[in-house]
Parts: sequence; structure tokens; C-alpha cells
Amino acid sequence: MALAQFLCELDQLGREAQAVFTAASDIEALEAARIQFLGMKAGLLKAAQKGLGLVDKADKPSAGQRFNQVKQQIEADLQEAQARLAGNGSAPVDGPRFDPTVPGEAPRLGHLHPITQTIEELKDLMGRLGFTAVEGPEVEDEWHNFEALNIPLEHPARNPLDNFYLATAQRLGGAADEKGLLLRSQTSTVQIRVMETTPPPVRIISLGRVYRPDDADATHYPMFHQIEGLLVDRGITMADLKSVLRLFAKSFFQDDVHIRFRPSFFPFTEPSVEVDMSWQGRWIEMGGAGMVDPNVFRAVGYDPEEFTGFAFGLGIERVCARRHNVTDIREFYKNDVRFLQQF
Ligand code: DAH
Repeated sequence: MALAQFLCELDQLGREAQAVFTAASDIEALEAARIQFLGMKAGLLKAAQKGLGLVDKADKPSAGQRFNQVKQQIEADLQEAQARLAGNGSAPVDGPRFDPTVPGEAPRLGHLHPITQTIEELKDLMGRLGFTAVEGPEVEDEWHNFEALNIPLEHPARNPLDNFYLATAQRLGGAADEKGLLLRSQTSTVQIRVMETTPPPVRIISLGRVYRPDDADATHYPMFHQIEGLLVDRGITMADLKSVLRLFAKSFFQDDVHIRFRPSFFPFTEPSVEVDMSWQGRWIEMGGAGMVDPNVFRAVGYDPEEFTGFAFGLGIERVCARRHNVTDIREFYKNDVRFLQQF
């Protein structure tokens, strides 16, 4: 057989196969078409292959090559038609096809930091006791951090080595009575800010960061978090303070928690106590508390004859660490996901 005739018939076969595959409207019709063209015994391609044997010997290599090309094209056309019908008539898809049964890639979900979780929980818990959460600035002046809290200039708490002063009035070239700035060393500052702008009664909490130039160890860090509470009204007593702190402790830990007050001193409370909590057989110091000192009321323009109040300040790292049995608070700041993902 002449090469030209062989090739002509071969091309014709390829076009026909493509047309029939494309026209197939369901799987059965396509299967019939597959047998018609690619059937092993009586398929049209098989018949064409016989023609290959009749081509002149010299033309055999090029004829064989073309035969293989057409065969591959027919097989590809069949696959495309199969995909079209499998895809419910949608257009043939190039590239990898969507398989809804393959397990997906789970997105890596983050969550709130344990300290943030604790802050949110404390807000919620104290909110149910009627305390409104308020915020104060982390860069404070000496009036709110010390003076108004009954901490006079000569008090050791104001030692430059124990605070992160940003600038003193003198160093800034300002007047001597101007107030210096520092990173607040306690959230008690917010008591003053609230009372300066709100007439009594008040019932607030404030949660946030405080800063002290302490060396970092298992229980200290130059930055940590406190929760401050303040309740001022007529006839408030220390019994109210203890009731609120006991309710707080029992809600945050479990019912088997105990609290105790130890006599102490803070310039802004009189009397003052250290608050300890015992849970699962271990006592731990949570912070300080007391009845608001009359001098603090005078500094903000409240009448100490008419109003009394209590205040407390607890370490958030401490309650969080105690709850989760974390033995080194530095873990909270390392940002190691292996630690953080446990909460
Ligand atoms: N501000 C104190 C501290 O950082 C804690 C504290 C003690 C807060 C007694 C209070 C309080 O409100 O009444 O050590």
C-alpha cells in the first residue's frame, strides 16, 4: 500500500473517533464507541494496524510513527470524553481533578494566649459580681502611680532603681512641680483615674501590664499583669472585701479553695493585708488588699467621712500559673507553641 493512502485513512480514522467520542451523550454510548475504535479484536484501529503491514518496507518507520501518534490521540480523546461524562456534562478539566473524598489539609488554628484567656475569664467572673472593667495608660505620671496613692516622694517605692522612669520633670527641663513619667509599676493607678472622673459609688476592675526592673526568674519578670479591684460606697467594710475575694477564688479555682488575710502595709490602704490562697494543699500569695486609705479619698476629692471602700491587686500570672500548675512564669513570654498549645 502506498504511504500516502495509509496516512490519509489513518487521519480520517482519528477525526472520526474524536467526533464519535464527542457526540457520546452517556457512558454506555462512549463505551460502545471505545469498542468500535479501540477494541482489541475487531476495533477499527486494530484494522488500520493491519494496513501497516502492507506499507512498503522503506516507508514503514514513518508509517509506524504516525500510527502511534494517532493511537495516542484517540486514547486521549476517549479519556477526555470519559472525564466530561463523569463530570456530569461539565467542561473537561485540565490538570488534577477535584476529588472530594481526599482528606483535606486541616488549617492550623491558633487560640488566645493563656494570659489573655485568664484576663477574659477574670473580666467575666468579676463582671458577674457587678465590677466594670476599665483601662488605664501604661505610661503614667508620678501623681497617679505614687502621689495620689499616698506614696510621698521620700518613699522607697519611688527609688529610680525600682522603676522604669521615662523622664523626670527636671531632666525634661520642665518646672519642678511638673510630673515625671514612668511605666506604671502597679494597676492601682487606675483607681485614681476612675475616682478623679467618677463620683461614688464605684465598682471597677482594671487588668493590664505593669513594669518593674526585676531580674527574671521563675516568679518574676520585668513585665507582668495585675488585676486591680476597687469598690467604694457607703458602709463598705472588710467583710465585703473578704466575701468578694472568697467568691472570686471559689469561682476561679474550685470550691475547695481557702483564702486567708495576713496583716501587711500598703500606703494606699488602711488596714492592709496580703491575700493568700490555698488550693490542693498549697498556699500561695496572690497579692495585696485593704480598705482605701482616707488620704487617697482626699486626693481625688471623695469625702472619707461619708464613703469607705476596699481595693485589691492580684498577679494574673500567679493565678494562671497556679490554675495550670505552671512552675516558671517565663514560659508565658517565650512564645513557644509547644507550651502555648497546651492551653
Ligand atoms: N499595688 C500593689 C502592688 O503592686 C497591690 C495592691 C495592694 C493593690 C493593696 C491594691 C491594694 O489595690 O489595696 O504590690
